[in-house]
This record gives sequence, structure tokens and C-alpha cells, in this order.
Amino acid sequence: MELKEFGEYVSRASGGAKIIVVSNREPVVHERIADGVQAIRPASGMVTALEPIVRGPGGTWVAHGSGSADRLVTDAKGRIRLPENNPAYTLRRIWLTRKEEDGYYYGLSNQALWPLCHIVYKRPQFSRSEWEIYQCVNNRFRDAVLEEAEGGPAIVFIQDYHLALLPRLLKTARPDLTLVQFWHIPWPNKEAFRIFPWGEELLDGLLGNDLLGFHIQYHCNNFLDTVDRGIEARVDYEHFRVYRGGRPTYVRPFPISVDFRQIGEDGESPRVLKRRESFLKELGEGILETTIYAGVDRIDYTKGIPERLKGFDLMLREHPELRSQVSFLQLAAPSRTHIGAYREINDELEDLVDEINWRHQTEDWIPVRFLRAHHDYYAVLAAYRMCRVLLVTSLHDGMNLVAKEFISSRTDGDGVLILSQYTGAARELTDALQVNPFDLDQRADVMYEAFQMGEAERRQRMERMRAQVERNTVFEWGLKVLDELEKIIPLRTKPDGGGSDDDAALDLRFRRNPFAYCA
Ligand code: F6P
Repeated sequence: MELKEFGEYVSRASGGAKIIVVSNREPVVHERIADGVQAIRPASGMVTALEPIVRGPGGTWVAHGSGSADRLVTDAKGRIRLPENNPAYTLRRIWLTRKEEDGYYYGLSNQALWPLCHIVYKRPQFSRSEWEIYQCVNNRFRDAVLEEAEGGPAIVFIQDYHLALLPRLLKTARPDLTLVQFWHIPWPNKEAFRIFPWGEELLDGLLGNDLLGFHIQYHCNNFLDTVDRGIEARVDYEHFRVYRGGRPTYVRPFPISVDFRQIGEDGESPRVLKRRESFLKELGEGILETTIYAGVDRIDYTKGIPERLKGFDLMLREHPELRSQVSFLQLAAPSRTHIGAYREINDELEDLVDEINWRHQTEDWIPVRFLRAHHDYYAVLAAYRMCRVLLVTSLHDGMNLVAKEFISSRTDGDGVLILSQYTGAARELTDALQVNPFDLDQRADVMYEAFQMGEAERRQRMERMRAQVERNTVFEWGLKVLDELEKIIPLRTKPDGGGSDDDAALDLRFRRNPFAYCA
């Protein structure tokens, strides 16, 4: 399915209900620059995935207005029509004070929930005042969504761990709203979750949803176990749903993906060639004579960037004959730099790159090229297409869309993907060379294996991975969410314990007129 067709499907399926997407990150950020205002699309797979859902039926996207010029381009309510050259939906921005952003985004979301859910041995930090601010900001989102949903039925599609309390707040205020949430990061096991001091409130918040999605079944199972242990509710393992206060929340896996066709098309565009020229100007044409290994990441301790550099270093130490034959190109986007752990990893990476280059470099060859900047979409595509081997070595990752973008961009059918076994993507991309990112020797061995892999094998593996991503694009992801909603919504008001006997009959009634419950 393609973008246009998907947009039309969403319009039809919503059957008059307004579609409201809610996330922390906004789809477009307006920044002040020397000669005016620049609109920037954040490098986020989430934006690509959700835009068609809100765009098709002309819905509303509610998000935190984080850009320095965001207020300049919106109306008094914080609204702006997007895309600016061809308006199709409304962005409603929420304004947060510095204190709110610190407590809710940098604090509770990214220093407590982020490390708690990723379990990468970074200790979460809990602060009661940040929890209070998180509650307060979730209430701010509630007010904005209620305003946007006023006067009619609406399907509210909430994103991620920044807004765990929002579903309950909305359900209490407007029980008729249809609420779906997608949790873009892993859900930890119950033992890891139990240290979260406000676990019951957080789970209660999430159980305000009608449907709650994770990338993979394993995270759904972890969630059900956590609920079973942590809060008064009935967990129906057979149907993967939880009853709390007589209402069910259905829990389902929806592996997110990318727009395969569009990425392939954009990868061949002149803008990508231009970015490639810029890279070659900066790095020197000599890099093309080497086998290029590449990484594309936000600088985040979950992404395993030092681990892959250390693997590359070990490969060079074990195979000194590779000197001058290989290079490592890392595009690294600064992220969440107000947080100490993120500043520390920046320093660590700088030292590590210096050390590796000092150890191996020759007069006319630098092994590691570390480009620390926000690289735009076309530059990222240029890097994907320049390299022989792409490394995704996350220590833990819900899905990881870099892996799927790389595959989509390789219309030439060549290239090797080294992929951490602890990403959601590893379940689907079995033709990648999978690694345990915590195992240094294995990382070095697998990098060497990639170097030695012959063209025929590279092409076979790439062909199978491309077929897999082509069959399961971001539009299939959206369709699966909507299809599931269509199935479960008729069942959501059934009393506790019900729902299993005549699901099919109820289903049938609503299948004839999807989303009729909204009318
Ligand atoms: O994957 C989780 C996530 O929060 C996404 O929702 C988001 O696009 C990405 O990480 C980037 O994070 P941030 O919005 O904090 O820059």
C-alpha cells in the first residue's frame, strides 16, 4: 500500500470521527535563523509513520512546541496548518515552561522511564517533583486534546512514554473517545519495572486506553505480567487484554516500519547525490577506495556506538592488513544534551575516536570519521548508499528504523546489515548478520565476516530483507492498528469477563460499517 491509498483508507475508516494524534515531538519544528524562520522536520521515524494517519482525514496533531520560532507562526491557540505549502492537517502546539520541560521531558521521561524500559545498565533516576511535573504536563495535553475533540466523536492516537497518564485522564473526561496508544520503546520485565515508585499510577494511566500497542509480542507479554503483579486488574492472557474497572484494554504487537518505496525513490534523487558530493569534499575522495562501514544514530547510550567503535578497533588490531582498506563513517546527531549521561557519552565518544585514530591512522588514511551534527534526511540516505556495511548495534531498542531505512534505500541490491539481536527489527530481518552488542570479540568477528562476504551472498541476503520490508511498510503498520481497533471497539463496553463468546457476532455487525460506534 502507498501513501495516497493509505490516506484515503484512513479517511474512509474513521467514518466521520476526528483523528487526533498526540506526541511529545512535533512533526515540524520552526527555528529562528539569521534571515528569518526555518521549518525543520525532526529526524524521527515516528513522524514519517504518523503523518499519513493524520493527513488522510485532515485531523489534528497535538505536540509540544519546542522550536525557538514556533510561537511566531501559530495562532493564539497554538495552531498552524501543515504542510505549509499544501495544508492538509492542523498542528496544535502546547507551550511548556523551562521548568515543565526539565521535569517532564528531560527528567521523568528521559532519566526515569527511558533507562527503566531499556535496561542497559544505566540507573534510572526518580524524583518526586519531576513526577508531579509529568502529571501536570499530561494534564496540559489532556486539556488541549479535549478542546480539539470538542463536539463530536474522535479517535485519539497517543504516542510513547511521555504521555502514559493521558489515556486515563481522557477516558475519565470523555468515555466515548476511542483511545489507542503506541509505546515506541521496549516494555521491561516485571522485576525491572517494580522499582518505579509510581508504577500503579502509570499502569492505571495506560489502562485508560482501548488498545495499547508495542513493537513485539515479547513486550506485550512483559506488560501483561507487569499489570498482573502491579495493579488490581484481571489479565486475560488468552485474549491479550486487561480488565480494569470493568473496561478492557487490548494489548497487541504492531511492528512499526518505513515507507519503503518513497525511501528508495528519494535515495536516487539529485539531492542525495549533492549530499554525497559534500561528504566526499569533507572526507576526501580516498574514502571511496575503502570498504565503508557506517552508523547513523542519535547520540544515545542505548545505541551501542562506543561498542561498535571498539569492535572496529579490535578488528583492525586483529587484522592489521585491513589498514587503509576500511573506514568507519559515523553520523551522530546530538540529542538530549541537557542530561548528564548524554554529555558523558559525547565525551566518551570523542576520546574513543581520538584513541582509535591515533592507534591506527597512517599518513593518508584516517580510520574513523565521526560527523557530529544533525544530518538531514538526504544526507542520511547518501551515507546509507555510500557504505558497504551498516551497523545497528543498539544495546536494546524497541524496533530501530535505521535498519529498515538502510534496506529500503539500497535499490542497488547490495550492502550488509550488522544488527543487534536486541532490537525489535532483529525478529524480522533474519538475513542481517546478528550480533550480541555486549560481546566485543563477536562484534569484531562479525565485522570481519562482513568484510569478507562475497557479492553474491550480500545480494541474496539484501534481496530477502528488501522483500520483507516491502511487504511490511509503515502503511501496513497503520492498517494493522486500524484493523485491530475496528475489531475490538464493539467489545469495549462489555462487562468484565465478557467478550469472548460472541466476539465474532459483534464483530460482524461493526465490520459492515467500520467505526459506526463513533457516530
Ligand atoms: O523511540 C522513542 C523516541 O522517543 C521517539 O518517539 C522519538 O522519535 C525518538 O525517540 C527521539 O527522541 P526525542 O524525541 O527525545 O528526540
